[in-house]
Amino acid sequence: MSQSVLILLDQAARAAFEQLGFPENFGKVTESDRPDLAPFQCNGAMAAAGFLKKQGEKANPREIATQVSEILSSNSAIADIEIAGPGFLNITPTPDAVSGRANTLFSDPRTGAQNIDPKTIVIDYGGANVAKPMHVGHLRSAVIGEAIKRLLRFRGHNVIGDVHLGDWGLQMGHLITELEDEQPDLPYFYADKAGDYPDASPVAMDDLARLYPAASRKAKEDPARMERSRAATAELQAGRPGYRALLDHFITVSIASLKKGYGSLGVEFDLWKGEACVDPLIPGMIDELRAKGITEESDGALIIRVDDESEKKDVPPVMLLASSGAVLYHTTDLATLVDRKSEIDPDLILYVVDQRQALHFEQVFRGAVKAGWYDRDQLDHLGFGTMNGKDGKPFKTREGGVLRLEDLVSMMRDAATTRLEESGIGQDFDADERADIADKVGMAALKFGDLQNQRTTNYVFDPERFTAFEGKTGPYLLYAAVRIKSLLRRAADEGVRAGEIKISHPSESALAMALDGFDRALAAAESKYAPHLVCDHVYRLAQSFSRFYTDCPILKNDVATEVKSSRLALAELTLRQLELGLNIIGIEVPERM
Ligand code: ARG
Repeated sequence: MSQSVLILLDQAARAAFEQLGFPENFGKVTESDRPDLAPFQCNGAMAAAGFLKKQGEKANPREIATQVSEILSSNSAIADIEIAGPGFLNITPTPDAVSGRANTLFSDPRTGAQNIDPKTIVIDYGGANVAKPMHVGHLRSAVIGEAIKRLLRFRGHNVIGDVHLGDWGLQMGHLITELEDEQPDLPYFYADKAGDYPDASPVAMDDLARLYPAASRKAKEDPARMERSRAATAELQAGRPGYRALLDHFITVSIASLKKGYGSLGVEFDLWKGEACVDPLIPGMIDELRAKGITEESDGALIIRVDDESEKKDVPPVMLLASSGAVLYHTTDLATLVDRKSEIDPDLILYVVDQRQALHFEQVFRGAVKAGWYDRDQLDHLGFGTMNGKDGKPFKTREGGVLRLEDLVSMMRDAATTRLEESGIGQDFDADERADIADKVGMAALKFGDLQNQRTTNYVFDPERFTAFEGKTGPYLLYAAVRIKSLLRRAADEGVRAGEIKISHPSESALAMALDGFDRALAAAESKYAPHLVCDHVYRLAQSFSRFYTDCPILKNDVATEVKSSRLALAELTLRQLELGLNIIGIEVPERM
């Protein structure tokens, strides 16, 4: 059966309402609020009664519901329709309809997930800054952005992920001047020397991590020190060759280190572009904006006014050039939009960045629309809330301030190790396998702990709660998947094979219905860019499986062969869909635990 059961029933109910002279949308069928009564419901009879009353006719919703149910009772996919309360229709599909659908899902490698009309989408996420410490906003951006990227890709879109490094601000001036103080003899600092700088970097990542905070601290206390950093930044932006050569080293060194950090989180970017690489486009862009007549001089700065749109008027102008002539965050983001237009020409660009930057993006997007480069609906800022510590403030590692991805990853691994020991899971495996499991459990805990929340809410980072094997957690889902893997291994040992699915038990039916909701969950998650809906789906699936597994024995001796094969097929299908779903949210399942 090529349609989901819900869609099939929905179409039938719409046709029934239409046949009775009502707008077809009254026939909308949804998953039931009371799955204990029936898996599906339709509330259109009440709306239909209202519709008749408006036309001055007498109407009784229960009567309408009865008429609809009479029409639907001839539908071979429907086992039962009950009218409840004022006129709710509770609909139960036939076991045959459910079985047919389950077999279709089983034979589909995507377990029912449709491939949709592809768009080309750029997703801008990660957004770490060269040398500057990462904060939880960068972590969340990486985790959420990766999930949205994988979701969109799985749906069939052509998605390009760009880390968009912050590598063009004052931090570069800090690094340059601080390095100059440490090693003034390096050729990069000779004012008149052009070209011909050493290939090897004069600094390693540890140096950058040391130089930046040192300079930043000094500059905060000493205006003259700050001025040197500013001046160096301006010279860099003006193209001083030695500084440019240094910048290239800083970027290369940072990218190598970030690749490791992001890699340990399973986050991969297609593009490692940044602010610096669009610098060459800025002069031409500014000329174009001037020629279009949308720029203005204001107190020596060059701006674009963007407060002229209807819904939200009080948006401050885009700052293209500061009065010092320096380019700003707006400028590099606009130039990046120019770059993406000419290099990729995407249908859509998504920015997965901290909610606190909402105004920045509103300004940039309005600027780009005013320039005529994009339509407003091609640009979207997907903001998110903060990950807080137990003190309710943005999470910091114990040493305070600097969040290093490596520290976070090892912290999760430690919490997972403790938890595995406590629960006695996998304790008889060798050390390597135990370490691999702890890694996977830790990552699952971290990612699920984040992604299960609505993107825009703040949440409390709690390694202990996140690593629990009970409740709505990543480890619970891993355990559920691993349990099915071990069941499948035992079945293989006993020579039991998956066969045709024939639904008879209500828990089988409930599991099949949950499986049938995959495509719907993914579509809803895409429409709101909401990974938590994927989390909800996999969690619900794991719960349905667990109930099924309790109620419906598979490998017991007294179970008939076809029943074994049917149930085993449901188990295989569940595992496949669980792994697909977990992969979207960036979670990897170990072979055993
Ligand atoms: N580097 C920025 C920050 O740390 C985030 C970059 C987000 N992406 C963008 N295109 N502005 O705040």
